[in-house]
Amino acid sequence: MIIVGCSHGKHVSYRIAKKLKQKHSYLITGKFPDGELYIRLDAGVKNKTVVLVQSFYGNISDCIVEAVFASRTARELGAKKIVLLAPYFPYLRQDKRFHSGEAVSQKIMAGMIDKYFDAVYVMDPHLHRKNKLENIFKIRAKKLTANPLIADYIKKNIKNPVIIGPDEESYKWARAVAEMLGVESRILQKKRYSSYHVKVQLNKKIDLKGKNAVIVDDIISTGHTILETANILKKLGAKKVYCICVHGIFVDDALKKLNKAGIKVVSTNTIPSKMSKIDVSGMIASWLM
Ligand code: R5P
Repeated sequence: MIIVGCSHGKHVSYRIAKKLKQKHSYLITGKFPDGELYIRLDAGVKNKTVVLVQSFYGNISDCIVEAVFASRTARELGAKKIVLLAPYFPYLRQDKRFHSGEAVSQKIMAGMIDKYFDAVYVMDPHLHRKNKLENIFKIRAKKLTANPLIADYIKKNIKNPVIIGPDEESYKWARAVAEMLGVESRILQKKRYSSYHVKVQLNKKIDLKGKNAVIVDDIISTGHTILETANILKKLGAKKVYCICVHGIFVDDALKKLNKAGIKVVSTNTIPSKMSKIDVSGMIASWLM
């Protein structure tokens, strides 16, 4: 087996390979003046299982082209099996045609991965209407979760926590983490009007006096879901409001807004940032064993 760190996967790929005691190599990438990508595999792949590690954030389109070109190249050079390991996998939220003429991005993206890879491992995928990776991909697909790591972080760092899920879909993280910790949890309701406009509501009162409210969700993008939720939690008397997410995308000035609101933000390193206090590489390695 050889673990290959693509441009947006190399922050975890080396540690994964080290834990697995497998060979590691970085994908060589570059950009031509016209914007085209240059891709080169730097190690022999003939008859090997190649695990390409790529997290799809930042320039997502370039990340996709890189992974597909690297996979196709590995295939041409005789790789036995090619696995995509995606700490963050994109385009899962557009899982239906909400308005006529729209691309169902999830389906198109999955079709592309099916064509170029033999298996795909995704960390905490955002699954909604299609709630299993097996219903999205035709190749072998495995879901990994950072929930035990999040529970462990809370246990070690936050006293008297009450876990809050900001919307109906967040129970897969919030409730699961609360159950691991044996503490109280509450799932709120959210209505999204646009990318930057959401309304969060509390359906049943909860007393947070003397408690630390910990919002647990899969993704922070613009941060508006968390800001809205935190406002409610502060009014309910929470001592402090924390937010722990798996994938910290933090677009634009999301982090600045969250910090200004006094919210303590922590994320895993599926997408690396200064908020990445939880390392997923050990857990990913154990799943690959
Ligand atoms: C959506 O349901 C996700 O779980 C997140 O709640 C959402 O992506 C967060 O987006 P934003 O930070 O832009 O409010």
